[in-house]
Amino acid sequence: MLNLVLFGPPGSGKGTQSEKLIDKYKLVHLSTGDILRGEIAAQTPLGIEAKKKMEKGELVSDEIVIGMISNKLDNNTSAKGFIFDGFPRTTAQAQALDNLLTQKGTSITVMLSLDVEKQELVNRLLNRGKDSGRADDQDLSVIENRIAVYNRETAIVQDYYKAQGKLKDIQGVGSIDEIFDRLCRAIG
Ligand code: AP5
Ligand code: MG
Repeated sequence: MLNLVLFGPPGSGKGTQSEKLIDKYKLVHLSTGDILRGEIAAQTPLGIEAKKKMEKGELVSDEIVIGMISNKLDNNTSAKGFIFDGFPRTTAQAQALDNLLTQKGTSITVMLSLDVEKQELVNRLLNRGKDSGRADDQDLSVIENRIAVYNRETAIVQDYYKAQGKLKDIQGVGSIDEIFDRLCRAIG
């Protein structure tokens, strides 16, 4: 199996590049942000709980997101592989993911970490906020908090994969096709 962690701060292009990667490698795309927004739209208890955190740009609890990923892995037993987009965001999530994949006789192949500077992230998210309908794109202070939460709580997850020899840094500024080429070369 080819199991990719597509990593990077808010607005670094995880969702954009995931669409191209699933097309080329025929992988199942698991974006915890997209799944959570689906739960909010369906007004499930989980969605109502998560909405409070997401509106502020804070992380949803490990327990909730790990449970969601576990269900998705169970429901996609014939997948050729997965792209994990926006997950794991804490070391506890990374450990849980390793355990879940080990139980299924597989593992993460590589973490691809998109590197984009803060001002470019802010510009992209404010621009998307004009028509995304995402509450967390509407307000500069929420965008800045998402980036701060990434730096404070999530960036360290790279060390977890680095220790396993699985971290690849990708320059995340340039055209969408250029960045896609860099990702494909890193996957090999
Ligand atoms: P999530 O949905 O994961 O959002 P995010 O990490 O804040 O990132 P985005 O989806 O905004 O950005 P992206 O990297 O996908 O970039 P995109 O391709 O869209 O999480 C949302 C919230 O859910 C979190 O804050 C948290 O509350 C919760 N959550 C989710 N997962 C969680 C977890 N595991 N644990 C706990 N809580 C969790 O691109 C952005 C924009 O830039 C687009 O408009 C795009 O068109 C544009 N763009 C893309 N590439 C380029 C380029 N090369 N040049 C110029 N513009 C570009
Ligand atoms: Mg995204």
